[in-house]
Amino acid sequence: MKLGVCYYPEHWPEAQWAEDARHMAEIGITQVRIGEFAWSRIEPEPGVLTFEWLDRAIDTLHRAGLHIVLGTPTATPPKWLIDAHPDVLAVDAHGRPRRFGSRRHYCFSSQTYRAQCARIVAALARRYGQHPAVQAWQTDNEYGCHDTIISYSDAARAGFRRWLADKYGQIDALNKAWGNVFWSMEYRHFDEIDPPVETVTEANPAHRQDWARFASDEVTAFDKVQTDIIRAHSPGRDVLHNYMGMFTAFDHFKLGKQLDVAAWDSYPLGFLEWAWWPEATKLRFLRQGHPDFTAFHHDLYRGVGKGRWQVIEQQPGPVNWSAWNPAPLPGMVRAWTWEALAHGAECVSYFRWRQAPFAQEQMHAGLLRPDSSEAEAAYEARQVATEIKALTPGSHRQAPVALVFDYEAVWATQIQPQGRDYRPLELVIHFYAAARRLGLSVDVVHPSADLTGYQIVLCPLQIFWPVDLALRLKASGAACVLGPRTGSKTDDFQIPADLPPGGARTLIPITVNRVESLRPGHIEQAGPFQVTRWLEHIASPLTPEASTDSGHGIWYRTEAVDYLACWPDAQLLETVLAKRCAERGLAVLALPDGLRLRQRGNIQFAINYEATPVNLADYVPGATSLDFVIGGVELPPAGVAAWKLR
Ligand code: GAL
Repeated sequence: MKLGVCYYPEHWPEAQWAEDARHMAEIGITQVRIGEFAWSRIEPEPGVLTFEWLDRAIDTLHRAGLHIVLGTPTATPPKWLIDAHPDVLAVDAHGRPRRFGSRRHYCFSSQTYRAQCARIVAALARRYGQHPAVQAWQTDNEYGCHDTIISYSDAARAGFRRWLADKYGQIDALNKAWGNVFWSMEYRHFDEIDPPVETVTEANPAHRQDWARFASDEVTAFDKVQTDIIRAHSPGRDVLHNYMGMFTAFDHFKLGKQLDVAAWDSYPLGFLEWAWWPEATKLRFLRQGHPDFTAFHHDLYRGVGKGRWQVIEQQPGPVNWSAWNPAPLPGMVRAWTWEALAHGAECVSYFRWRQAPFAQEQMHAGLLRPDSSEAEAAYEARQVATEIKALTPGSHRQAPVALVFDYEAVWATQIQPQGRDYRPLELVIHFYAAARRLGLSVDVVHPSADLTGYQIVLCPLQIFWPVDLALRLKASGAACVLGPRTGSKTDDFQIPADLPPGGARTLIPITVNRVESLRPGHIEQAGPFQVTRWLEHIASPLTPEASTDSGHGIWYRTEAVDYLACWPDAQLLETVLAKRCAERGLAVLALPDGLRLRQRGNIQFAINYEATPVNLADYVPGATSLDFVIGGVELPPAGVAAWKLR
């Protein structure tokens, strides 16, 4: 467990670097990420490489004992590069190039840009690949940030046609898979196919799903150019990428396979404002962030990173990019840091060292104010650094619950929501939160994951049903909770021949005969439960465990499987889960919305997201006699407690 910071030596006079490095080390920081936007300073003119300043910056940080994560600067191609190679720019849905003047102004499919990236990354990797301070590399910065996965450039169109030809081989196979007989959409050659954009009404969903798959693969291919070069010149160093929160436009598991560590950028207050939570929730957690939103991403990226992950950008104070940008509750930066460490993070690194008085992010807090005085978060980071020294919790252990998460299903749901508020990530986090309120730890896993050792597997959004998933579930012996729309599409984006849930029917004997989406305000009462948004009409020999007053079963159950034929409310989810836990001998708690527990190794952590105190004794049996190593039984607002498990 360690702390880090994001630093931009090129933003500050060189005379300040040594003091910055000393100050970082004094706070207890050991990792510094640098370099990821510095292309115009590394190569001010085409082919003129000016590494000397970076040599000195790296050496200065090294002398202070800091380890470096060196970023490749490919999120910010300089002006001369764009002017010399305008085909580097991404193209928007109306065919207009996106312009220079901010960042991420490039198209993943541009072969010109891939060659330019290979050139600058090779130069960096050759120069610093063996430097003792450089312990890891970050490729680019936040793939997809500012809505940059999709580009309708000529290069993307050509790439898409190649990708389709590879996938289908024959054009007839594509026509059949997509159902192109419908509306006379049949093609004679792969070269006739365009990206699904600016069609008169919606484009064929199968066309859109393949476009999403292609765009995702382009990100992985783009990254591989850099990763391969770094591995060749910098053996033994970790390669990571910094992913985002609430971002699903490419398959992170796929990219994660070629990296060593998953990093992500955690901005709990910015995300709270962005996300779907009702007004009352946003007001309640205004200065804390939503307790389950951040934790979900920790668990997701631990899965993406095959167990190795970190928060490489941690919000330290108000950010600049949400509709409103409040300050965290006193103590909240410390609590966020502990939440990440409790979930198994190797490092929590604050963004950024010093608030910049210039340019786009001048309203974004840092650990220091622009005048170098310490901002609030610096004190909290120092406190965590001291606390870390006293703890050796070991690493993450397999959680009792797995949540299966499929990026392809997210795209499918976005392409064909069928109800305007069928938000895939919201549904997934809704399931996740129910488990967390019961005090359960959760691993987020890919649909192809080995499920051995899990007691309960949640599949909130398994629209495409992998052929072997039922077998793997049965082999694991886990109980399984299937969400609505399970198995409702074939991989070709068609309704299965035997109707949904298609291949998942081997787990539970049901057939979905009809689905309906419900506008906001319409509630179908189902005993103590309320159904909103989505209701399926099921035929089954099973007697439902719960039905709407109008007579539709919403919860079907076998010895090992639950199927929810609706958008469930929180109470239904908790009831289903608690019943399974009781059968499996898994102890559950009834935590209030603002209190969350997380186990790392032999230490149990508790974090209070409320703006009011919480007494653990009200929720955790035996709380008064725990062996506390941080805090105690009474948690103040933003409070953290940790105790040794016996
Ligand atoms: C991240 C990005 C950083 C910085 C930060 C501000 O998305 O990676 O470079 O812009 O947001 O919160």
